[in-house]
Amino acid sequence: MNYHEPVMVKEVLDFFDVAKGKRYIDCTLGDGGHSIEILKRGGLVLGLEVNEAQFAKALERIKGEGLEANFIGEIGNFKYIENLALKHNFSEIDGILFDLGYSSSELEDGNLGLSFSRDSVLDMRLDKSLSVTAADLVNTLSQKSLEKLFFEYGQEKMSRKFVEAIVSTRKLKKIQTTKELSDLLVSEAPLNYENKRMHPATRVFQALRIAVNTELENLSLSLPRAARLLKRSLPGGRMIVISFHSLEDKIAKDFGRNARLVVRELTKKPLTPLRSEVEENRRSRSAKMRIFEKI
Ligand SMILES: C[S@@+](CC[C@H](N)C(=O)[O-])C[C@H]1O[C@@H](n2cnc3c(N)ncnc32)[C@H](O)[C@@H]1O
Repeated sequence: MNYHEPVMVKEVLDFFDVAKGKRYIDCTLGDGGHSIEILKRGGLVLGLEVNEAQFAKALERIKGEGLEANFIGEIGNFKYIENLALKHNFSEIDGILFDLGYSSSELEDGNLGLSFSRDSVLDMRLDKSLSVTAADLVNTLSQKSLEKLFFEYGQEKMSRKFVEAIVSTRKLKKIQTTKELSDLLVSEAPLNYENKRMHPATRVFQALRIAVNTELENLSLSLPRAARLLKRSLPGGRMIVISFHSLEDKIAKDFGRNARLVVRELTKKPLTPLRSEVEENRRSRSAKMRIFEKI
């Protein structure tokens, strides 16, 4: 089985100073890559994952490694971290990890439609109990709102042109698949879009994923809640946020500034992966890691 390659694992283990009996919450279980490394070193892990199929995959992997004794798993959104931790009597936490974004399994999952490089239904909901899909947004939002969405969440400079094309197309027929949307964007973009360094659908898909899964809101709500769970006694518990785009990193950065009485950020600037890691795992190239310690 192929698994998601975890990012900046050594940094996570070092900053968490993982040791036997210490308590950790992995807010973004994914394929369990980080959790497994913590479990192997004797840490106790509460793993949260909002995508049911992804959770099942991680659990099977953890069991397959014989590491389930120190693992508690919960299918749930990390914005409910306080309730989920309370449910399992998990308090005074030594380390809380947010490894944001999507696992490679999710990006390849034909039922999710997260990626323009795989043709599937234009859905994007990690949590199938959410009621609005990416197709709903694309087919029903007003021209103005869709433009705003692509601009604010995707930082897409061609938002207006892209949305005009979407609006004229959807008058004739609903846009229902990732390929339909991606082909439309490609046909509207100039040949040298972003000097050919980026696919024309990249930013629009990012914007839709963020909106459908209320990603930014989840993160803003979660960071102060997670910080309350960190161990107070010295050395204070630590929280690590690994983000992959500037909107997420800004939320983590602002959290650090606004919560100065609760946590201190350990490095002046966010850490990035070593060049050797980027060479081995291209996905890690945009990772930014911020580390906060309870005071
Ligand atoms: C980048 S992956 C994590 C990969 C993991 N660290 C590993 O090594 O396998 C991010 C995971 O977080 C999950 N996720 C995203 N938003 C979430 C949320 N609000 N609550 C819980 N899990 C979430 C995604 O479904 C995805 O599986």
